[in-house]
Amino acid sequence: TLADYTKKFESLFTLTPPRMRMIVNGLLEAFEKGLKEPGQVVPMLPAFVFGWPEGNEEGDFLAVDLGGTNLRVCLVTLGNGQFELTQAKYRLTEEQKQGDGQALFDFCAQCMGEFLKAQEEEEYIKVAPDTVLPLGFTFSYPTEQDRIDHGKLIRWTKGFGAANTEGHNVGAMFIKSLEKQNLPVKLVSLINDTTGTLIASRYVNPTTKIGCIFGTGCNAAYMEKIGNIPKLKHLGLPDDDLMAINCEWGAFDSFLHEHLPRTKYDIMVDQASNKPDEQAFEKLISGRYLGEIMRLIICELIDEGVLFLGQSTYKIEIPYAFDTAFLSLMESDPTDELLMVIGIFSHFFAIDTTLEERQFFLALAKLISTRAARLSACGIAGLVKQMDCLDEGCSVGADGTLYNKYPKFSDRIHQGLVDIFGDKGKNIQTIHAEDGSGVGSAIIAAMTKKRKDAGV
Ligand code: BG6
Ligand code: GLC
Repeated sequence: TLADYTKKFESLFTLTPPRMRMIVNGLLEAFEKGLKEPGQVVPMLPAFVFGWPEGNEEGDFLAVDLGGTNLRVCLVTLGNGQFELTQAKYRLTEEQKQGDGQALFDFCAQCMGEFLKAQEEEEYIKVAPDTVLPLGFTFSYPTEQDRIDHGKLIRWTKGFGAANTEGHNVGAMFIKSLEKQNLPVKLVSLINDTTGTLIASRYVNPTTKIGCIFGTGCNAAYMEKIGNIPKLKHLGLPDDDLMAINCEWGAFDSFLHEHLPRTKYDIMVDQASNKPDEQAFEKLISGRYLGEIMRLIICELIDEGVLFLGQSTYKIEIPYAFDTAFLSLMESDPTDELLMVIGIFSHFFAIDTTLEERQFFLALAKLISTRAARLSACGIAGLVKQMDCLDEGCSVGADGTLYNKYPKFSDRIHQGLVDIFGDKGKNIQTIHAEDGSGVGSAIIAAMTKKRKDAGV
């Protein structure tokens, strides 16, 4: 019966506290390795953001954010420790994600041009002749940086695959696209969304020590002492100075797969992806993959003749047809009959469901998303240990569709932290970050300008 299947999947997807602590230790080792030498699996990328904002950053900034669900262009005004923001969102087509890299940046620059024109028409902003607006570019993929306005793309993640971009300096590529549009802007900083989230959260909450994204992808940034980053020794900076690190923890356990409890469904998702064996941690957590994991389980049970006998099921057999939003909707269904689940299956897949089946799907959604949240807790716990700040406690600025929209996701992270650390886990709280990439990018652009003006 389906109840037996529920039990089977419970044992496959449940993470016990001891198992979680082992994963935390594995993460810690990977963090250490990444800080020590370049080119490690978890690359711990120096972000060339030196220390925390002071709160006196000010001015008008443009920000472009590429790498979440949408391409966003923002105008941010900073002053008096506060910010104002207007923005426009654009959808990227699959063709743009997989086509030519330069064409992708051309599109970003084009959107920026359109946005700027609209802002000027509305008189939100006036760009005097011969002046340029500072621009922060949030590019949410792993990039190797040796200064704040350069970044060599290590590899695409989250299903992107645009050609002629991996291994290239995406800062220079974007500048080239901006020049084609002849826009009055100057690229000042290139950052990751997690670094933006870290800085934007700290700007409003001084207890922030970590910035996390739980969205299409999953990753975190934190502030590390230079003395703990052996691979930066050649810069000759004081040991006590601080540098933001973009961990790229989504890559944890890639290639060797020694630490994470992958089920056969996870392995199928991985192998069918455009980057098999990469982003192993992210593939168990992020919104891009959770629906697909669930779909593969459902398809297996269709093949075994357990589900939907006699019904046509071709619609659910299409890869990625089962959106993670469906899991989220199921878990927010308040009815005993699970009317929301009826709706999802009939409307999107032309399939009728029994109450028993619907209860089974709800249980599966809970298992898959709870595992994701508990693995997220392992990531946070790893950084808390790395910084040795459990007793003192800290806030984690968090953003992304999964964190913002998935019911109980944050509660499950907090429960995970208590399971790992006991009661002290309560010293760690997550807080929704207000617009990490836009505001964070503007603050970092302002910090960069200040350093330049001061001749650092
Ligand atoms: C947004 C942040 O809210 O979340 C972006 O401002 C981030 O910086 C995005 O990239 C990630 O979420 P998703 O779900 O769009 O991948
Ligand atoms: C992926 C990217 C990373 C980004 C994260 C969240 O993991 O590699 O750079 O921060 O997604 O968007």
